[in-house]
Amino acid sequence: MTIYLDNAATSHPKPETVYQAVNEVLRNIGANPGRSGHRLSLKAEYYLTQTRESLARLLDIPDPKRIVFTANATESINLGLKGLLKAGDGVITSSMEHNSVIRPLRFLESKGILVKVVPGDLKGRIKVSEIKKAIDPNTRLIVLTQASNVTGGLMPVAEAAELARQKGILMMADAAQTAGLIPLSLKEMPIDLLAAPGHKGLLGPQGTGFLVIGPEVNLCPLKEGGTGSRSEEEIQPDFLPDQMESGTLNTPGLAGLGAGVEFILKQGLSSIREKEVSLSRMVWEGLRKIKAVELYGPEAAEERIAVVSFNIKGLNPNLVASILDTAYDIAVRAGLHCAALAHRTLGTFPEGTVRVSPGFFNREEEIEDLIRAVSEIAGKV
Ligand SMILES: Cc1ncc(COP(=O)(O)O)c(C=O)c1O
Repeated sequence: MTIYLDNAATSHPKPETVYQAVNEVLRNIGANPGRSGHRLSLKAEYYLTQTRESLARLLDIPDPKRIVFTANATESINLGLKGLLKAGDGVITSSMEHNSVIRPLRFLESKGILVKVVPGDLKGRIKVSEIKKAIDPNTRLIVLTQASNVTGGLMPVAEAAELARQKGILMMADAAQTAGLIPLSLKEMPIDLLAAPGHKGLLGPQGTGFLVIGPEVNLCPLKEGGTGSRSEEEIQPDFLPDQMESGTLNTPGLAGLGAGVEFILKQGLSSIREKEVSLSRMVWEGLRKIKAVELYGPEAAEERIAVVSFNIKGLNPNLVASILDTAYDIAVRAGLHCAALAHRTLGTFPEGTVRVSPGFFNREEEIEDLIRAVSEIAGKV
């Protein structure tokens, strides 16, 4: 059986209840939520409401209606950035962002938005003091990932959010690598826009994601039509979530996401975090002992999510990942991980790194197998 260590791309496997929820909605409900008045449609709507409410409980979101469902974190980020920023607005981000942030920002730059990128240090750490220095009278938004998908390093989102609040600027967090893995309260942290996938730490199926829109934020939708509500009108509804949820939603996937979130609520976020810290520490400590291995990012497992990037000196990371896959049946990701700027920051551009990302369902023996495999590969160089 394949040892899956690519949970930062998408989590696998999912809890049994996730498969059951998808099956139940797809097989036994099937109807479109919010379109028809029949009982099956109402049941489908009920699943969506439940998922919104579970997410609101997990992330301490005051109003579940301000959770807008999307297909993935990339769509959430695009909606947040393009729905908010206008020509002349300034935005500050970091060099550790995923291209889901960098690419829409470079597009917006071509439309007159002013983009500043704060560089990280050689371990990919970002200083809030640098963000503070970058603020100017045009700055409207700070956008920061909560954890790097390359090094796993946690970013100072809470401090940046406080700074933004003090300066009257909006704060957007990319929680792609942290939602469902790191405790997060939107009642305590002044985050105005929170973008997240449903298919990673939240344990839902692929094709699910969401954007939380704070009460101070008015976004323009990127799509219109197909809401089912206010059918008598030719213009888009002006209330959430309908204003941002055009077209038929991925109801089976979102029901699965609801089951994933319920699983997390039952396990407790702190026990999930504890398990991931322990596996991640095991990966780091095990790899550190191999002479030819070079590790990237912060060393302490508490300063990281369960993501470890490494290279074997003299070997291309794609080759290492390919040997792990074909000779050892271990699935990891290699290359730039959609974050070229982060690799320029770490000095690992253009080859990138091998990335190991354990999840809640991995076992210690699987990590031992990985360490043994990397040690053998390194020994042959
Ligand atoms: C930090 C970060 N942001 C955004 C994304 C994009 O997520 P999605 O694949 O759900 O669009 C990822 C995916 O790996 C990520 O790691």
